Amino acid sequence: MTITPEAPSRARRIPLALLEALATPHAIDRYLELVHPMLTARELRGEVTEVTRSTANTVTLTVRPTRQWRGFHAGQFIRVSIEVEGVLRTRCYSPASSQHRPDGRIELTVKAHPDGLVSQYLHANARAGLVLGLSQAQGVFGLPDVRPDRVLLISGGSGITPVLSMLRTLCDENYAGDVVFLHYGYTEHDVAHLVELRELAARHDKVSLVLGYTDADDGDLRGFFSLEHLEQVAPWYADAKTFLCGPPGLMASVRSAFDEAGLAGQLSHEDFAPAFSAAPAADASGRIRFTASNLEVDNSGETLLAQAEAAGLNPEYGCRMGICFSCTKVKTSGCTQNVNTGEVDAESEVEIQLCISVPVGDVELAL
Ligand SMILES: Cc1cc2nc3c(=O)[nH]c(=O)nc-3n(C[C@H](O)[C@H](O)[C@H](O)COP(=O)(O)OP(=O)(O)OC[C@H]3O[C@@H](n4cnc5c(N)ncnc54)[C@H](O)[C@@H]3O)c2cc1C
Ligand code: FES
Repeated sequence: MTITPEAPSRARRIPLALLEALATPHAIDRYLELVHPMLTARELRGEVTEVTRSTANTVTLTVRPTRQWRGFHAGQFIRVSIEVEGVLRTRCYSPASSQHRPDGRIELTVKAHPDGLVSQYLHANARAGLVLGLSQAQGVFGLPDVRPDRVLLISGGSGITPVLSMLRTLCDENYAGDVVFLHYGYTEHDVAHLVELRELAARHDKVSLVLGYTDADDGDLRGFFSLEHLEQVAPWYADAKTFLCGPPGLMASVRSAFDEAGLAGQLSHEDFAPAFSAAPAADASGRIRFTASNLEVDNSGETLLAQAEAAGLNPEYGCRMGICFSCTKVKTSGCTQNVNTGEVDAESEVEIQLCISVPVGDVELAL
């Protein structure tokens, strides 16, 4: 008998807990993946079914998730795991597809970062048949369930993905309100999904596509974001809900414009990269002990993730800014400070996120 991921086998009808107990010490998925990597009892995975490249430095993967996938809301992200050079790496990617896509597949558009490990790997090696580890969708960035009367979507570079998902979702819902999709890039050649964006705008009267180029004159707008741009293309922006995702410079200028206009409450945003940098500090004191690795180093004042990496360790991480929980480890003793909130934690035997924790004096980690 052939076992396929689509056709549940006889074995699947046996209680999973029993099968897993029989399969100890290996979880049952370790055995099932020998039959087919998409045949899983518990783990969520996805098979790449199509690979396209709408710009030179991006790659778009269409992914068919296994039956455990519970769907997503436009704007959320998933953690994607893949083995690169023998080590399993996890990164966050926001689906760019509509949450209503009829075939249930998700589309991920990945920009190849210079020196980026996973993005470069996917850009160079993604092909149909590649199987990725996936998490369920996470995050609170997204459209409210009761859709607002007007929507302004602002993005730059690879930050297009969550807002494109919102645009596609609204179009699938025949949303009747005004939508302005304002995207910034260097030139037309850097705009991922440009052909489809133009098609969507042509098909939907209420959707207006505005392209701002910083390095070319043939866009709808020229130069970096300013409030004048908004007044020109969405004069009703103060009454709209605005969703923003892009590089740190664009994020900072839109946020400060909205703050100054007293409109911070109208703006939702998602960062792809950390806004903070915990640099080495001259007054950092104490030692960090990585107990599982039998390693001890002086505290440099950087985050525990950065210090573990500097010590030659390879802890798992995803977002590096405290939102995905990939880097959670047990602090067995010592005091740490959360760089996002400033909160200090002196408890022992607690889970902490390495990417947003800096040691305050001696710290011992189960790593
Ligand atoms: C919620 C969320 C959703 C995301 N969605 C997408 C998406 O849809 N498409 C997409 O292309 N990316 C997305 N990202 C970014 C993605 O998770 C990775 O950070 C990115 O692909 C780089 O990973 P890497 O392994 O190639 O780089 P790494 O090897 O981890 O890093 C290499 C170098 O690049 C720097 N770097 C890492 N990430 C960034 C970044 N985002 N911007 C600038 N410099 C960076 C690092 O500081 C380092 O110096 C998202 C991130 C988050 C947190
Ligand atoms: S890497 Fe995402 S929370 Fe630390």
